[in-house]
Amino acid sequence: MLKARDPSYARVEDNDIRFFRGVLGDTGVITDSTALQALNQDWMGKYEGKSTVALRPKSTEQVSKILAHCNARRLAVVPQGGNTGLVGGSVSLHDEIVLTTTNMNRIISFDEVSGTLVCEAGCILEELDRHVGAHGFTMPLDLGAKGSCQIGGNVSTNAGGLRLLRYGSLHGTVLGVETVVADGTVVDMLQTLRKDNTGYDLKQLFIGAEGTLGVVTAVSILCPPRPSAVHVTYLAVPDFATIQKVFVRARQKLGEILSAFEFLDQQSLELTLTHLEGIRNPLPDTQTPFYLVVETSGSNEAHDYAKIEAFLEEVMEEGWVLDGTIAQDSTQTAAIWGLREGISVALKHAGAVYKYDLSMPVADMYSLVEETRERLAGLPVEVVGYGHLGDGNLHLNISTKKYDENILRHIEPFVYEWTAARRGSISAEHGLGQMKADCIGYTKSHEAVKLMGQIKRVFDPNGILNPYKVLPQSVSADSAD
Ligand code: FAD
Ligand code: MLT
Ligand code: ZN
Repeated sequence: MLKARDPSYARVEDNDIRFFRGVLGDTGVITDSTALQALNQDWMGKYEGKSTVALRPKSTEQVSKILAHCNARRLAVVPQGGNTGLVGGSVSLHDEIVLTTTNMNRIISFDEVSGTLVCEAGCILEELDRHVGAHGFTMPLDLGAKGSCQIGGNVSTNAGGLRLLRYGSLHGTVLGVETVVADGTVVDMLQTLRKDNTGYDLKQLFIGAEGTLGVVTAVSILCPPRPSAVHVTYLAVPDFATIQKVFVRARQKLGEILSAFEFLDQQSLELTLTHLEGIRNPLPDTQTPFYLVVETSGSNEAHDYAKIEAFLEEVMEEGWVLDGTIAQDSTQTAAIWGLREGISVALKHAGAVYKYDLSMPVADMYSLVEETRERLAGLPVEVVGYGHLGDGNLHLNISTKKYDENILRHIEPFVYEWTAARRGSISAEHGLGQMKADCIGYTKSHEAVKLMGQIKRVFDPNGILNPYKVLPQSVSADSAD
């Protein structure tokens, strides 16, 4: 149910538009309803905002002037990057102003010795990877939305993705951020140092804050050397218990070159083959409940290939893997990744989708998918499970034709309670957004949530930044105890 508009926020008036045009020029202020449509609609088509104004600053200084004005007027603001978020965090609920970083897309510097990239928040992840790739480096994160998500959005959601297993989370690879807090103050934390123990590491608060503490305007990030030898294998596995054995063996045998360990179930595969054109089944003659995508990234082609081949032979001899293929060229590699990354796009094509992004002990993961399937038996849904198994991250998705309150009642709070009972997280990598703002208590203690509310009020005392998101309103509001 849509949360009511908080009447303490002001509404945009003609004087505000005049002010924004004075700062950004006419092209930086969007009021045309057709142009606003794309900014008001989230990627899944699940959340629809009602913003009547969107602002497109080109510099940190302009962001600062906009926020200072909005704070003084108590106008609510939604920071937006590539608008690929999956929890309704990047669109408004009511008439909040959208502040998009799309025009802040300058690469500031790249240090070829350390691999440190400094760039503005609106740079597209794939373009950054191309840029650092030309210097022999790679971005430390990769995800299906790379063609349109922005680095500021990645940092603000603490995006995980396909290679977290190898390069770790953005809490480790982001070296600095520049951010503008609610009253327009620019906080320069754009360090490029690997080691810096001077006081509290404030930048960490902005990694994963989902636009509730400030607008991230620039980022410095450590890029690893681009691996020259990449191998991908696609494996058919009979059951979930066996997947865990294969994972343990992969870590033992592939060691430092293991760079991704992803799983999908038969239902995910079928749904993707049905709804996406051009996706090829890598093992068309084998039907089994589970498939794995295992990737290695290293620097010695022959050595790495021998390692992955020996691993494949071993797990097949054990009887853990029923069939498997190693991609022989970049086309086959792209085809396997195209299938894995295509699942979310296929789910979107299939109609409406209820998405749950959970982390928990690997051993428990698939029982949740099975129990959800049992609970929903008889309803017009397809329950699919896939995810970043190597990170203990399950994507449980319930696909149906149209959003339906009755289906939702069968899923929530069951999924959250089930996860909380195993001390799991109800948001492993997508964030809380508007979808789960009232659910944080399933994973975080009352005391921790209360502290978060206090932190929110330090950075944004008027609550203008991304209201109704991440924290329950009662916690964000000034009156919270
Ligand atoms: P948006 O969607 O625009 O914004 C996301 C949130 O960040 C919002 O709350 C917004 O207010 C805030 N925000 C955006 N920019 C800023 C800024 N400059 N300053 C402050 N706040 C800001 N996520 C994963 O973790 N792993 C995956 O593997 C993954 N795969 C995906 C695959 C697909 C096909 C899609 C559509 C999404 C996927 N995601 C994944 C979701 C993920 O959150 C986003 O793709 C990405 O990190 C968001 O970046 P964005 O620029 O689109 O941000
Ligand atoms: C993924 O791993 O594919 C993404 O997080 C997107 C999704 O969950 O659909
Ligand atoms: Zn994911």
